[in-house]
Amino acid sequence: MSELKNDLILKALKGEKMSRPPVWMMRQAGRYLPDYIKLREKYDFFTRVQTPELACEITLQPVDQVGVDAAILFSDILVIPQAMGLTVLLEENKGPVLPNVIKTKEDIDALNCTEVDESLNYVYKALKLIKQELNGRVPLIGFAGAPWTLLCYMVEGKGSKTWDKAKQFCFTQPELAHSLLQKITDITILYLKAQVNAGADLVQVFDSWSGMLSPADFKLFAQPYLVQIADAVSSHAPVILFPKGSWYALPDLSKSSAAGLGIDWSITPEMARSMTNNSITLQGNFDPSKLLAPIPQIKKEVKEMIDAFGVNRYIANLGHGIMPNIPVDHARAFVDAVKEYA
Ligand code: CP3
Repeated sequence: MSELKNDLILKALKGEKMSRPPVWMMRQAGRYLPDYIKLREKYDFFTRVQTPELACEITLQPVDQVGVDAAILFSDILVIPQAMGLTVLLEENKGPVLPNVIKTKEDIDALNCTEVDESLNYVYKALKLIKQELNGRVPLIGFAGAPWTLLCYMVEGKGSKTWDKAKQFCFTQPELAHSLLQKITDITILYLKAQVNAGADLVQVFDSWSGMLSPADFKLFAQPYLVQIADAVSSHAPVILFPKGSWYALPDLSKSSAAGLGIDWSITPEMARSMTNNSITLQGNFDPSKLLAPIPQIKKEVKEMIDAFGVNRYIANLGHGIMPNIPVDHARAFVDAVKEYA
């Protein structure tokens, strides 16, 4: 395997002294890139995800076209519920739908927890191919959804503004909820370790809906499982936890074995630094909608963001995924502004 020519993100996660922070964008593979949109017309979503050559091509697009310092595997967090036996439909512009939701103990017992490695073989094949095609240009990020966020989709069956059915399940049947969360956790640990074996240089766990939980409920239904994953996977590769909206958990999570914590734009860099005692690498937190601002304003605000975080122990990123309506030259301006920081 070739040596990495750009290992800025790994250095930032180790806390090494940096001349500038590394930069990548959540959801950079897909969504807004014209070449991706063209592929979308030819192949449906899960064909793109399950065909290693297509996943590889899409993963490389932002590296080649926008100049990010890391590649993230093109896949989806919902491949885990799918591998556990649930049907996952993805209709364009509608978001994911899971027609058979989890309601009972029998539903949980029926989930497949043993052959997940087998059915996700296409992911490992894609990672190997991407690693080869990257040829050491930048590190490769693997990922999974956090147990709470996956429970949300598995119980609710589709996206939601409130996730009230998922919460109702947790609040009325906590034992069942914990057994489901633990099953997802066990599989996710195996899955992330296998991603590292296949070539991922680091992994990120997306807890997209953790901020829907109160601090007390986050501690019950999200945090223990995030910590288990970080503890189990950290000896294999650095782990970034991204509990979106859960800034209140930063002090606790900064003491976990995670190498980095992602934050969104609802907290200032200064607050996040002080809540984590300056002890862990932080990633974020540019408002993705700010990429719609004029380019000079993007560049100015990126510089201010880096000034506030500092160049060390910092990975420049958005505070959530890039949106489909972002012009490519604005995404490039974001990346260039980080690279031009001096
Ligand atoms: O970062 C990357 O670019 C890698 C690819 C990636 C996708 N999904 C591809 C995708 C990643 C990291 C994800 C993670 C994901 N998927 C999350 C966590 C991150 C976040 O944004 O909060 C969540 C909650 C999902 C679930 C999901 N998948 C939703 C809600 C949707 C529909 C709308 C959308 O774009 O978010 C998807 C489909 C999906 N996953 C698309 C892409 C590029 C859009 C479908 C398409 O382009 O045809």
